[in-house]
Amino acid sequence: MSFDQADLKTQTATTEWWKTGIVYQIYPRSYQDSNGDGIGDLRGIASRLDHLVDLGVEAIWISPVFPSPMDDFGYDISDYCNIEPIFGTLEDFDALREAVHARGLKLLLDFVPSHSSDQHPWFQESRASRDNPKRDWYIWRDAKPDGSPPNNWISEFGGPAWTWDEATGQYYLSIFLSSQPALNWRHPEVRAEMLNVLRFWFERGVDGFRVDAVSHVAPFVDGGDHPANPIWEEHMGPARSQIHIHGMHQEEGFQIVKEMRQVSDAYPDRVLIGEAYGGFEDVMRYYGESLDGFHLPFNFALLHSPWNAEHIRHMVEEYEAALPEGAWPNWVLGNHDRSRIASRAGRAQAKVAATLLLTLRGTPTIYQGDELGLDDAHIPHDAVQDPWEKQVPGIGLGRDPVRTPMPWEPGPTAGFTTGTPWLPLHAPQGADVATQSGAKNSVLNFHRALIRLRRAEPALVTGAYRTVSCQNDVYVYERVLGDDVLTICLNFSGEEKPINVSGRLILSSRSERGDADGTPATIASHEALILKR
Ligand code: NOJ
Repeated sequence: MSFDQADLKTQTATTEWWKTGIVYQIYPRSYQDSNGDGIGDLRGIASRLDHLVDLGVEAIWISPVFPSPMDDFGYDISDYCNIEPIFGTLEDFDALREAVHARGLKLLLDFVPSHSSDQHPWFQESRASRDNPKRDWYIWRDAKPDGSPPNNWISEFGGPAWTWDEATGQYYLSIFLSSQPALNWRHPEVRAEMLNVLRFWFERGVDGFRVDAVSHVAPFVDGGDHPANPIWEEHMGPARSQIHIHGMHQEEGFQIVKEMRQVSDAYPDRVLIGEAYGGFEDVMRYYGESLDGFHLPFNFALLHSPWNAEHIRHMVEEYEAALPEGAWPNWVLGNHDRSRIASRAGRAQAKVAATLLLTLRGTPTIYQGDELGLDDAHIPHDAVQDPWEKQVPGIGLGRDPVRTPMPWEPGPTAGFTTGTPWLPLHAPQGADVATQSGAKNSVLNFHRALIRLRRAEPALVTGAYRTVSCQNDVYVYERVLGDDVLTICLNFSGEEKPINVSGRLILSSRSERGDADGTPATIASHEALILKR
């Protein structure tokens, strides 16, 4: 096929932003504090947009900023259509949205459908009495004759998934914390209200949502007990000791996703990204049978894969093969719930990992701080904030290590706050944005160069994926668009290795390589190379 520049331009120009762009996740408590209370806020985010423009991302997704008692740091919402005062006001939100749009960026919010806070007025009513009109907005069941919960389900944060309500003498379902009662989406009024929440924010100009814990949205609580997971190990946490056959990925849940999509389709150019952990088979179902589900069901495979070339090659091929016809892929390297990539893969692999994320086929999501190569922080016992770590201590489930404040500059509070940060700072020397901006070889400058290249080379965005080879810890693949072939070589090892590739070197993670190097015959330890032919 011959390469036609004009065709290519048309193709790229008409491709949706959520296919061509990069999503950047902001954990708002830890991005930038503007008022000295030690907690990040909306005005803080607005003051840091230049960083995102310099980086070259297209969209920002902000974890929940709605009113919340903060038991789960915002994933416990007490009012879906307002802004938590810690983060600012609706006016601050509008100002942020305008500032984001003025820079040509998109703004995504976090929609948390599966549960509210127990402080939400709906739940307050629901628990007021058994005959309250909102009783069935949540999921209530009688105790078994011996007083125990209606089934054996374990909550995601450990302990029973049922909470006893003394006043009305029933259990309610709480899939995460007890203070996060599960909403009953099978109730038509709940459905209507929650879909209206999407409309509220779409009307206010948001460009889309990341939809939280969507696989839990329609549990079939009368289905019975969950069977034990035969391959469970303690480090997986108590919830994974069962297979959630009735709790997760239920038929009704897919129908609900479709309805969310119908709401979003009524607005131009919006996107829905779903958070659904599971095997590829489950994840693919969230695209919808006629691609009428999520635009992008998050692909978390890189979060779980052992960090070696062969595993990753295999997983990439499996994912590519599992994608339904016409579905657009995506890749996630980190988020606010999982150990950072620099800790999972080792700091030396940070640039290899970034290259993988930004050159595989599909929309990449970057988690704040990963562009600096940050690793997990050590959180002293008395500084622990995460409720999961508090409920299931000591086995590494805690998420505080990946939620520490963004280091912007050298100094005691790293430019994040003038007060005392809500979590200890983790800013190893030279890890901050200002220092890395001035350091030619930094992980940050490598991200910037890589993203510039992604923007300049349509093959890296819309080109086909093809494995070339995977041996000796070196993974080589191509992205192909028309006559354009870009070859990506990743060395997962700490040793120099021979490579057999053709083309002109256009990017190396080692800045000491010059343009004069031509086609390299070897790849250095922990090196990432991109060639073009
Ligand atoms: C997934 C979110 O990413 C996590 O942070 C939260 O605790 C749970 N869902 C519950 O909403």
